[in-house]
Amino acid sequence: MDLVATPLHPLFAARITGVDLSKPIDEGTQRAIERAMDEYAVCVLPDQHLEDEQQIAFSRCYGPLEMSPGIGRKPGEVPANARIKHREIFDISNLDQSGAILGENNPRAAFMRGNELWHTDSSFRREAATWSMLHAKAVPPAGGDTEFADTRAAYDALPEAMKRRLEGLVAEHSLWHSRARLGGYVPTEEERKSHPSARHQVVRRHPGSGRKALYIAAHASHIIGMPIEEGRALLAELMEFATQPQFVYRHKWRVGDLGIWDNRCTMHRATPFDVTDHVRDLRRTTIIDTTPEVFAG
Ligand code: OGA
Ligand code: MN
Repeated sequence: MDLVATPLHPLFAARITGVDLSKPIDEGTQRAIERAMDEYAVCVLPDQHLEDEQQIAFSRCYGPLEMSPGIGRKPGEVPANARIKHREIFDISNLDQSGAILGENNPRAAFMRGNELWHTDSSFRREAATWSMLHAKAVPPAGGDTEFADTRAAYDALPEAMKRRLEGLVAEHSLWHSRARLGGYVPTEEERKSHPSARHQVVRRHPGSGRKALYIAAHASHIIGMPIEEGRALLAELMEFATQPQFVYRHKWRVGDLGIWDNRCTMHRATPFDVTDHVRDLRRTTIIDTTPEVFAG
C-alpha cells in the first residue's frame, strides 16, 4: 500500500494520494485513511472520478449515512431525486432538478447560501455527523472555494480563564437559527418539524486524536442556562477567535477532488462565486455520529 499524506497547512489538513476509491478498498487502506483523518481532520484525495454509487460505497466504510431531506424542494413539485437518484447524496450545487442553473430567487439557492456561514454539518441533530465527504463534479473558474477551521487548535490557543469558563457548557443548535441569520429561506411547517433543535457540549474530546475541540458554529443558537444574549455573545466571541487566519485552510476545488472533513473538530464555510453564470456541482455524503454524547452534570 502506498498511501501518502502530505500536509496542506501548518496545523491540520492533508492531501492523500496513492489510493483509488473507485474500487473497494482493503482494511489496511481504510484504517490508514482513518489515521490520517484523526490527525489532520481534513483530507483531500485528488483525481477520484467517482460515480455517486462509488462515493456512497466508500462512505459506508465509515458508518451509516444521513439521508438528504431535499430541503428547498416544496412538496408536490418535481421529485427530490430527479437529478440525483440517491438520497444518501446531498446536492451541493447551484442546479435545479433538470440540471439548469438556479435562479437567484429560487428557495433552494437561498437555502444553499446558508453554507457561507461557518458551520459544522448536522450539529442541529442529536445524532450529528462524524465525517462529511464532498466530491467535486464541476467547479467554477473562480471562487467557490471552501474554508476549514481547526477547532482543536483554536481550543488549545484559548486563554486558560476561557477554558475554565467553557467547562460543562451546553449549547442549543438549530438549523432554522442558522438559516434565519441570512434571511431568505422560509421553511415549510413540515420542514420545521422534521428538524427540531439539539443540545451539545461546547467543548468535547475528539475521539480520534484525544484532543479537546470547540463544537459551536452557525447552528449554535444560545447556551443552556445562560441569558440568551449573553450566550450568543460568548458564542460569537468564540467564533471570532476560532476562525482567525492561523486556524484556517482554504481549499480550491479541482474536478475529481474528494474532500473529507471531521465535523467534530472543524468548521467550514463556502465562499461566493458567480452563481448565475457558472456551474458548481459538488455532492456530499455525511456519516452519522451514533456515539451517545455524555453530558457532564
Ligand atoms: C457542505 C458545505 C461548502 C461548500 O457540503 O456541507 O458546507 O463550499 N459545503 O460547498
Ligand atoms: Mn456543510
